[in-house]
Amino acid sequence: MKLFYPCVLLLALAATERLQSTEELKVFTSEEVARHDSKQDCWLMIEGMVYDVTNYLPKHPKKYSLVGECGHDVTEGWKTKGDKNKPHTRKAEAILKKQLIGRAIEP
Ligand code: HEM
Repeated sequence: MKLFYPCVLLLALAATERLQSTEELKVFTSEEVARHDSKQDCWLMIEGMVYDVTNYLPKHPKKYSLVGECGHDVTEGWKTKGDKNKPHTRKAEAILKKQLIGRAIEP
């Protein structure tokens, strides 16, 4: 009984890892991603991954609007916060991770 809860926790963690493994992610072409280019339907590509950030858009700091980026590869902007030359925080990484819907391939 002592080991029951730790075991359940470990199994749950293993299952989450499996779901997030790159192999099992959906694959989208960059052309498909480019079609999700509006405030109502906004996908972004970052380092080969595809994120549906529609619900997050209004929450992003107002200093920089992500709306114009919808449908695009924003790897550079993500890494530098535009002209700030600073990476996003861990908190931002965690938010981004939750929006992951697949990985991107060309074209
Ligand atoms: C073109 C892509 C992006 C650009 C240029 C950009 C730019 C910025 C800027 C200028 C700030 C305010 C910086 C400051 O005052 O320190 C910021 C903060 C933030 N951004 Fe972005 N952003 C981008 C994409 C994203 C994405 C995709 C997410 C998450 C889904 C995100 C999440 C956040 C969060 C949570 C903050 C608060 C501060 C931090 O955690 O770094 N950003 N971003």
